[in-house]
Amino acid sequence: MKLILGIESSCDETGIALYHTERGLLAHTLHSQIALHNEYGGVVPELASRDHVRYVLPLIRSALQQADCSLNDVDAIAYTQGPGLSGALLVGASIACALAYTLGVPTIGVHHLEGHLLSPLLSDPAPAFPFVALLVSGGHTQLMRVDGVGRYTLLGESVDDAAGEAFDKSAKLLGLDYPGGALLARLAQGGTPGRFKLPRPMLHSGDLDFSFSGLKTAVLTLTQQNETDKQTRADIAHAAQEAIVDVLASKSLAALKQSGLNQLVVAGGVGANQLLRSRLNEAVNKHGGNVFYPDLEFCTDNGAMIAFAGAMRLQHQTARNDYRFNVKPRWDLQEINYAD
Ligand code: KG4
Ligand code: ZN
Repeated sequence: MKLILGIESSCDETGIALYHTERGLLAHTLHSQIALHNEYGGVVPELASRDHVRYVLPLIRSALQQADCSLNDVDAIAYTQGPGLSGALLVGASIACALAYTLGVPTIGVHHLEGHLLSPLLSDPAPAFPFVALLVSGGHTQLMRVDGVGRYTLLGESVDDAAGEAFDKSAKLLGLDYPGGALLARLAQGGTPGRFKLPRPMLHSGDLDFSFSGLKTAVLTLTQQNETDKQTRADIAHAAQEAIVDVLASKSLAALKQSGLNQLVVAGGVGANQLLRSRLNEAVNKHGGNVFYPDLEFCTDNGAMIAFAGAMRLQHQTARNDYRFNVKPRWDLQEINYAD
């Protein structure tokens, strides 16, 4: 029976959570920096780090209050060790190790993508191992086979831009704020189906890899060739969303078929996209399988998934007690696999 404090600070969200191995998630708090970076059209790393410094302790305090706990009740501290922005990661890592040192409790450096991968296990019903996971965030697009905690096999990934990046770059070309994924989806609702058709790169490549970088060029060309009145922008948004979702859904289905599994888990910010959800549900149900999503609030970056992944890790490995830390801005998920 353990209480784990989780700290997420890899990019532009400060997320804190308290997860109890028997009572489940007790509290979580979040501060999003979207408004801060908005005027720059993307995340400014130095501003991100400073904002994490500003919010991390107040958010820990309010999470403890919500859970009616004190710091002394905490048995271990999990923090995002990578991948992400190094300055931003250092804020979470240094706070985690300083607090753990004063409390005399161990720390667990969590891989951000493992947090996303395991986040659907916080929902009810939760998927059972093994499953295929589609990881679709602002920085990653990967299909993984998950046989258990620490047993991840990469099936395919984007060779260039991530799906979230494709959403965000297309949105930017349509004059929408950053990050534009959800705004593009909203604009697409008023779009005319079929007016524009955009390419589906690598749809028939025969493997499970993706390529999205050509999409922004195709969207750019459409915006240059047409009057960009509101309706046309909605029509382009519609076509862009269709192209991204179509490729994600068909490759996910192919991954299930190839691996002989029938459970698909979707994680990462793009997993909030409603069209993606309905296409995946339709395709996977037809295949006789089920799709699992984290609750909407746990699709995008959050502390709960880090606290939870930390709790899972604690069951399988010894946590560190020496309080030395390093962050890993680039970190291959398969490096964290347990030895067979
Ligand atoms: O997982 P996440 O919060 O952060 C990373 O770790 O990258 O994902 C953020 C990404 C952004 O690219 C954002 O535009 C996209 O998720 N996103 C969406 C939607 N909501 C968030 N993309 C499409 N439709 C949405 N509804
Ligand atoms: Zn993320």
